[in-house]
Amino acid sequence: MKVLVVGGGGREHALCWKIGQSPLVAKVYCAPGNAGTALVAENVDIAAEDIKGLVAFAKSNGVGLVVVGPEAPLCMGIVDEMKKVGIRCFGPNKAAAEIEGSKLYARELCRRHRIPSPQFWSFEDAHGARAFLDMREDGPIVVKASGLAAGKGVTVCKKNEEARAAVAECLERRRFGDAGSTVVLEEFLEGQELSVMTLTDGKTIVPFEPARDHKAVFDGDKGPNTGGMGAVTPVHVQGRAMTQIENQVVFPTVHAMNRENRPYQGFLYSGLMLTPQGPRVLEYNCRLGDPETEPLLMRLASDLVPLLIATCDEKLEEQQAPKWDPRPCVTVVACSGGYPGDYKKGVPIFGLDRVKSGPDLQVFHAGTAKKGGDVVTAGGRVLAVTAMGKDVEDARKRCYEALALIEFDGMHYRKDIGARA
Ligand code: AMP
Ligand code: GLY
Repeated sequence: MKVLVVGGGGREHALCWKIGQSPLVAKVYCAPGNAGTALVAENVDIAAEDIKGLVAFAKSNGVGLVVVGPEAPLCMGIVDEMKKVGIRCFGPNKAAAEIEGSKLYARELCRRHRIPSPQFWSFEDAHGARAFLDMREDGPIVVKASGLAAGKGVTVCKKNEEARAAVAECLERRRFGDAGSTVVLEEFLEGQELSVMTLTDGKTIVPFEPARDHKAVFDGDKGPNTGGMGAVTPVHVQGRAMTQIENQVVFPTVHAMNRENRPYQGFLYSGLMLTPQGPRVLEYNCRLGDPETEPLLMRLASDLVPLLIATCDEKLEEQQAPKWDPRPCVTVVACSGGYPGDYKKGVPIFGLDRVKSGPDLQVFHAGTAKKGGDVVTAGGRVLAVTAMGKDVEDARKRCYEALALIEFDGMHYRKDIGARA
């Protein structure tokens, strides 16, 4: 079978790497891919949002399975368009992807179906939001652009003053365009965060092992949020937390989507805050997380492809539960100088060939490109160095040893990924 992976980040490199190992797969294409996916797949120069182009390519190249990495094409309806021409496409359809595409929809879904989540208030005009903040006791609050804002639409505010500024950025200065035309204000929650990715065809629900992202740019969770600076899996949650998460969040969410006539198929990512009162939903994603996917797929001992096909064909119940390598796995993301603010592109990357990669050590590429014979930077998050080890400390050590062999001007990464695990 020929498989087309849509996207061009670290998640997609890991997907191509894993999918290419399947005996069911004869060829992997990646659109648009990066310099890393070119090592394990054939890159196709079509943007992830060019749905017409992707459908035409899949049709004329006999692609048997399309696997969509990022949220934008899912929210635009790529699954619906592929299905129209009879091509199996893994991921939620447009209606179901709204669980990520509209934070307001996700919050209302939780409210309607009593899925534990923070209190929230939504506004379309800045006066209303300001009047609300004026009435409220001063203190922490979270301001979110409701639509897709490439992971930059959330501001965690310590004071109402800061929240007023964030509201103005969204609703008045239109920093996120239409994605910020509705703002959701949320109760601030404290606790440990956890990412739980679940595979579902709408009937059978298979939670994957939990992972933890590290969102802040600097060590000790300091500085502004990023797309994710590193991840670790598995994460040992205390006592009955995992059962609570499944019973109070994951299963009810899949059932709620059925009841709302938006049956969900694909990976459902629940971003959770583990509070003393139990798990609370911070967000849903309609796809795998990045960088959580990189260590998760390295630990996945089963073939991923039959699971993806069975999900598309609504036959997940016939599949065996996935098997996991018991060894912990860590991913450390190396970023461009200045990220998550402005950064340069096209900076040459040295030392990639010095890393001895294998099944338990990979340098997954995120924002990279080929320029002549060189690999150069092409994004904020550049590389996702991923390693398994006999324990988390060992996995960390192997990541940082590999990173020490690589250099590019401005390169920075967190030194404490997985240190708390
Ligand atoms: P989101 O994209 O909605 O997951 O938000 C990005 C990050 O903002 C999360 O990973 C949390 O670190 C933080 N965050 C989001 N919502 C809340 C909340 N209600 N309380 C505290 N922190 C939050
Ligand atoms: N790492 C979080 C995300 O993919 O949204």
